Amino acid sequence: MTARIIDGVALSRALRAEIGERAGALAERGRRPGLAVLLVGDDPASAVYVRNKVRACAEHGLHSVLETHPATLAESALLDRVAALNADPAIHGILVQMPLPRHIDPAKVIAAIDPRKDVDGFSVASAGELMTGLPGLRPCTPWGCIKLIESTGVPIRGRHAVVIGRSNTVGKPMALLLLQAHATVTVCHSATADLAHHTRQADIVVVAVGRRHTVRADMVRPGATVIDVGINRDESGRLCGDVDFEPVRAALGPDGAITPVPGGVGPMTITMLLANTVQAAEAAP
Ligand code: GUN
Repeated sequence: MTARIIDGVALSRALRAEIGERAGALAERGRRPGLAVLLVGDDPASAVYVRNKVRACAEHGLHSVLETHPATLAESALLDRVAALNADPAIHGILVQMPLPRHIDPAKVIAAIDPRKDVDGFSVASAGELMTGLPGLRPCTPWGCIKLIESTGVPIRGRHAVVIGRSNTVGKPMALLLLQAHATVTVCHSATADLAHHTRQADIVVVAVGRRHTVRADMVRPGATVIDVGINRDESGRLCGDVDFEPVRAALGPDGAITPVPGGVGPMTITMLLANTVQAAEAAP
């Protein structure tokens, strides 16, 4: 028997229903949660991502504003837009889609967002809250991964989690969230000497490197949970993750669990963005 599939579409549907109810309750009190999405330039993938974010808001009763700007927008003009949205009481979350054109410093833009409206959880303030265990807005993708792991019903506490990847947006916050959930955490990356040595000991593997077949069947322990954050294309152009899916699923056996690509982590990222926007609206002064 192969491992069971963790269905991110079904989990998203359930969580989004709850989020929609919270948004409705806020709207009744005259505080409809509002998200502003800023897109600079004409990267086609980014355009698809932001459209999906705005559509998800509309489907769940959140107010949203999509601002698109030409790639030539000055950094100072973008900072002015962020300042205006910081002051706008109808907006509780601000998301500046990455990547930005090269003449704009992303760190400067993220730092300009009011931390209470930082629904990406990318700011130094949000990272510090996560690091120190304070409440705050958590980065959407790793926060979604925690929800996927929790959905298996096997507690995270006391388990050995191996995170592959150390980005500021996924790997590092993922490790901290797992630590906060009382896992023993190992972080592996491109300079790790023997990746398979670590992953074979893992109860939970989260892989976020953006390279196909990073996790293969001989690298996992039967019974483990594998979360695949990767979004890649195979030689025939089909979406695939960082895990060699079918062989790994077989190697995990009946007590294992694995997320598919697509249909695993992907839908959870937008779900947690909606959750963060509602949380920010609930906490707004
Ligand atoms: N670009 C790709 N993913 C993301 C994301 O989650 N947030 C932002 N702001 N930009 C992105």
